Amino acid sequence: MAVIIDGKEIAKKVREDARRRTDALKARGISPCLAVVLVGENPASVSYVTGKEKALAEAGMEGRDIRLPAATGEAELLDLIAKLNGDPGVHGILVQLPLPSHINEDRVINAISPEKDVDGFHPVSVGNMVLGRPGFLPCTPHGIVYLLKEMGMKTAGAHAVILGRSNIVGKPLANLLIRRDVNATVTICHTGTPDFSVYTKQADILIAAAGKPGLVSAGMVKPGAAVIDVGVNRIPDASKKSGFILRGDVDYEAVEKIAGWITPVPGGVGPMTIAMLLRNVVEAAAASRT
Ligand code: GUN
Repeated sequence: MAVIIDGKEIAKKVREDARRRTDALKARGISPCLAVVLVGENPASVSYVTGKEKALAEAGMEGRDIRLPAATGEAELLDLIAKLNGDPGVHGILVQLPLPSHINEDRVINAISPEKDVDGFHPVSVGNMVLGRPGFLPCTPHGIVYLLKEMGMKTAGAHAVILGRSNIVGKPLANLLIRRDVNATVTICHTGTPDFSVYTKQADILIAAAGKPGLVSAGMVKPGAAVIDVGVNRIPDASKKSGFILRGDVDYEAVEKIAGWITPVPGGVGPMTIAMLLRNVVEAAAASRT
């Protein structure tokens, strides 16, 4: 049976550290503040944004909760971002993705000042990450690397296989895993990979970030591997009050019997994403001149 990686517990330590650093900044007259922008009412996005705002409050930070109707135009959103960029009381700007289809996400991400890009999605942040220069790291990949280190996993020389090539997880994670302080060898599988189980069976660290419930079955996993499940899939379930249950990309019940380590969904990667966001906001505030 696999060791269950308790993301909630590990995230708690990061959040406590963010709280201590926030208190120290406040004593110097700087009150860390994140503007959280949500356009529309996508239920998953509403839930993520609410979770982020709760975490900000618990860390003693200010959250500017900006909720806009789904019909908001791109120009209006770009105007808002320009105002937030120029507001010295705002240290970080997070625009929850996905945006409604009439808004160009690239233009919106490009509009956020890199100094306030606590999501690490701006091309300048991505470039700095790839080059190993200082800058904000994207929260989910950073959280995954933090989990691996915190669990004392031997990553140097390990073969890490990533399922999924998204800009938010797959691509940046590959870059962080090949950094010298992690030193893994990385394979990325995607929808163009004919038989990805050929690769997953060789993985010492398998990261599932494809957004497909139950994609990873026990037969695809090398015994003893660390299995990190980034999937957050809502499966309709009439017996639940919410009307759904959350399932990862991994067949948890079967894979936990084979893997050496495994992250649950919920309670694995998700809490780490929020913890790393808080850390980035503190760093943005500390670097500000207010
Ligand atoms: N949508 C899914 N994950 C994220 C994230 O980490 N940040 C933002 N802004 N949107 C997301």
